[in-house]
Amino acid sequence: MKIFIDSADPQKIGRLAASGLVDGVTTNPTLMLKAGLRQKDAITRICRMIRGPVSVEGVGETAEQMVKDGQEFASWAKNVVVKIPMGQEGLKAVRALNRKGIKTNVTLVFSVNQALLAAKAGATFVSPFVGRLDDIGENGMKLVEEIMQVYRNYGFRTQVIVASVRSEAHVAQAAKAGAHIATVPPEILEKMFLHPLTEKGIAKFKEDWDAAKKGQK
Ligand code: E4P
Repeated sequence: MKIFIDSADPQKIGRLAASGLVDGVTTNPTLMLKAGLRQKDAITRICRMIRGPVSVEGVGETAEQMVKDGQEFASWAKNVVVKIPMGQEGLKAVRALNRKGIKTNVTLVFSVNQALLAAKAGATFVSPFVGRLDDIGENGMKLVEEIMQVYRNYGFRTQVIVASVRSEAHVAQAAKAGAHIATVPPEILEKMFLHPLTEKGIAKFKEDWDAAKKGQK
């Protein structure tokens, strides 16, 4: 499973990219607000560090505006993917951007039918939001499993990005469900490296190493 970083903060992305484990990035207007940078500046900086897909989202309401914005975003770097909100106008824009050879990520997906339509429209990626479904008492990961099943049934090539990740458990569940990608907030990716028994084990080995050295002549 590929791991994307869900952030628009070039510094945080740069730190994590050094691990060599970051396959792409997703941003949205909220993450852009948190980063406090101009969208074009943040995206061009991120695209210099990350070779994989970098999703960029606008706020256009018509297909025409989404296509116009999408073309602009795609001119910033060759790995830009245009994030398009689910809906009739959105999927019209996906088809038009597809014809121009521009990759798309259909976002704000909360049902199997939305994912089915996005795949039929030719979306490169689709982003089911698991955390926001869990927030309203539904089972976000069940939706991912169902989308994967439908995509397998029909051989769709659209890749599933598990989005709105709230915990390390979500990432593990995404991998078990066979999702292509999970997009993970930096703080959660950092926690994925850790386990209390790993830290405890390292401390014990160090202690025994030092004791052994003392005992040697
Ligand atoms: C990524 O593509 C999404 O925009 C993001 O994961 C949404 O996360 P949130 O539900 O925590 O805002």
